[in-house]
Amino acid sequence: MLKEASFPYASFKLLKELRQEAFVKILGSRPEFIYKRDLGDIISRVSNDIFTLKESLQKIGVDLLSQFFTVIFMIGVLIYIDWKLFIIILLLVPILFFSLSYFGKLREKYSKYQQESISNYTQFISQLIQGFELLKLFSTKILKIKFNKINNDIFNAQVKSILTDVFYLSSVEVVSYFTVALIISYGGYRIINGELTTGEFFAFLGALLILVNSAQVFQRGLLHIKIVQPIVRRIQDILNLPQEKDEGIEFKGLKKQIIYKNVNLEIDGNEILKDINLSIKSGQKLAIIGLTGSGKSTLVKLLPALVRGYRGEIFIDEHELKEYKPSSLRKHIGMISQEVFIFNDTLRNNLLIAKPDATDEQLLQALKKAKANFVENLENGLDTVLGEKGSRLSGGEKQRISIARIFLKNPEILIIDEGTSALDVETEEYIMDEIKNHFKNKTILMITHRLSIIDVADKIVVIENGKIIEEGSFSELIKKKGAFYRFYTLSQNG
Ligand SMILES: Nc1ncnc2c1ncn2[C@@H]1O[C@H](COP(=O)(O)OP(=O)(O)OP(=O)(O)O)[C@@H](O)[C@H]1O
Ligand SMILES: [Mg+2]
Repeated sequence: MLKEASFPYASFKLLKELRQEAFVKILGSRPEFIYKRDLGDIISRVSNDIFTLKESLQKIGVDLLSQFFTVIFMIGVLIYIDWKLFIIILLLVPILFFSLSYFGKLREKYSKYQQESISNYTQFISQLIQGFELLKLFSTKILKIKFNKINNDIFNAQVKSILTDVFYLSSVEVVSYFTVALIISYGGYRIINGELTTGEFFAFLGALLILVNSAQVFQRGLLHIKIVQPIVRRIQDILNLPQEKDEGIEFKGLKKQIIYKNVNLEIDGNEILKDINLSIKSGQKLAIIGLTGSGKSTLVKLLPALVRGYRGEIFIDEHELKEYKPSSLRKHIGMISQEVFIFNDTLRNNLLIAKPDATDEQLLQALKKAKANFVENLENGLDTVLGEKGSRLSGGEKQRISIARIFLKNPEILIIDEGTSALDVETEEYIMDEIKNHFKNKTILMITHRLSIIDVADKIVVIENGKIIEEGSFSELIKKKGAFYRFYTLSQNG
């Protein structure tokens, strides 16, 4: 009983560790490697693949080793009883070897196809749900064609792998029957000649039966090992995600200034930032203005090391950005953007990620500053579960939660990347006032399309195609009558 439970126990333990390891590796991986991956593919590897691994491990079974020893022992017994009869069995070996390696390879291939097609399926369904409302407004024809292909791929891979198993096992069976027939005729012949007694012959057949039985279990185990190989490789791919090295100088807050010196950035052959020279003094409020796609977000994401691989230098006080420990930069840099990360848990836990030791009073205070008064209407207050990705909140409500987090986190450097864009003008102004007061002495980098909040800034830079084309105070840039002036007059008229 214990023996039967011990293998599943060990495999469950292994699977638990695998899930843990995958979680740690995903969390610790370098941001650029996660952006490049498909969500569904990662999900499939950490769920479907680990599940399939469990099924296959159970099929390989605990007694692969004991079956192996039974096979060896029975071979010894057969040779002892009558080595001449045993020679016939040796005929089986090359055939077994050939079919195991041929079908094993096929099986490995189809197992890989199967997991990949299931991964496509997971990915497709997850995209479907994510864009469900918008998708309803379009024609579903293309999606149906794509889905049918994905679904057929899984079906074909499954059919092919099961057929491979059938062919493999029946080829072995046919050869086994043929060999038994040979043994019976040759054994009979030797009994007639008096070289073998009937007792010995039946002992030989009995031992052969045990051998065949064990060999079959052993072979199936080997076949399942072949199936497991590609799955293990897929899981390993997640475990091998390039990890971020969290080491370097501890960033403790901005004392003097940030200086971008000839910073260039190329992603996939495209020049995203060109020759950026910019200095931001500690406590300064900088506004970054520019057309969509000009590189504003990329420019600020360099600071918390969410985007890397730039040429040139970025000095934060006396050290280059790369010398700092990434987690220490992130600890002191806060960001609010259009996209809000909300996980399916209570409002309290969604706020506590910004300050794990905050009291309820502090949480409510932060929500108040972020003008998140809708919270009063939630049936369970801070204990209300927000739904996956905050599905029960409006865009502006989510954004105010992310703003409340910023008050809790209280960073040294605050990045606002269109972080108030989902709010009405009145609410936005109220919140910007709160931010101005709260972060009076802190450094703020503010990207905005709405020039109504530009008065918070004491310096403005205008970016075009990855280049800074204008820089100065509001009045200087208005006087200059250049790009900023055009933006400003357009937004005033609109
Ligand atoms: N990870 C990435 N891989 C490839 N290209 C990228 C990546 N991130 C940004 N880009 C490209 O860099 C350019 C600048 O993007 P960025 O997000 O910085 O623009 P932005 O000024 O913030 O625009 P928006 O106002 O629309 O937010 C775009 O052309 C974008 O396609
Ligand atoms: Mg942007």
